[in-house]
Amino acid sequence: MRTPIIAGNWKMNTTIVEAAELVKAMKEKLHQIAGVEKVLCPPFVSLTTVKELIKGTSIKLGAQNMYFERSGAYTGEVSSVMLTGLCEFVILGHSERRGYFAETDQIVNKKVKAALGAGLTPIICVGESLEQNNAGDTVGIITKQVKAAFEGIASPKGTVIAYEPIWAIGTGKSATGDQANTVIKLIRNIIAQIYGDKTAEAMRIQYGGSVNNANIAEFIKQPEIDGALVGGASLKAADFLGIVEQTAKLKKTG
Ligand code: PGA
Repeated sequence: MRTPIIAGNWKMNTTIVEAAELVKAMKEKLHQIAGVEKVLCPPFVSLTTVKELIKGTSIKLGAQNMYFERSGAYTGEVSSVMLTGLCEFVILGHSERRGYFAETDQIVNKKVKAALGAGLTPIICVGESLEQNNAGDTVGIITKQVKAAFEGIASPKGTVIAYEPIWAIGTGKSATGDQANTVIKLIRNIIAQIYGDKTAEAMRIQYGGSVNNANIAEFIKQPEIDGALVGGASLKAADFLGIVEQTAKLKKTG
């Protein structure tokens, strides 16, 4: 049995004060929900504040990005070793990073290597664009992204993958549960080809893209889907709590 994982990707939202307020509004209830791994991914500048606030709870912390070099003249960047001890997870290869900041599959691969080397757990995002989806290229794109992300990596350790079709992110137009389940099954098959069945069976693969309180059940009911990477709805305490609560309930009862 894979423990479901719900991660909140706050993106470039919340000041330090707002981040603290958001955590305070949900931390007691979130802490009490068992059977789901709960991860908050605030902006870099709020990591320390959030870390303090969730101390002693079952809530975990993640960063939204990092650079692959350990240190040096890379103005404005944050490295894996800086995150070690601060947070446990790091989102890598988000489509917004790939799209707005020109992150290639090769860069994502270097980041995954650096994160694993520093003891962080990557949440690797993959997903096709609307054009690629319309052209029937989803399988090819996802296969390429997944294979490239793990190139030269002997063991993925606890790596999490998030399947996030770009056309579903922040658009209010989510994939259907069936669509997401099919692609996630494909991802698991690719992992099995690279690392074997046991590793593939153990790997957690999330769906992401316009997940909210009203549609989470559709995804969580699917056998291959192990949770969600939540953007917009993770900025509202009640919505995020609702998503985690439903996940706990549905995965428990099957
Ligand atoms: P969304 O974002 O839930 O706002 O669509 C998801 C993501 O980008 O991780």
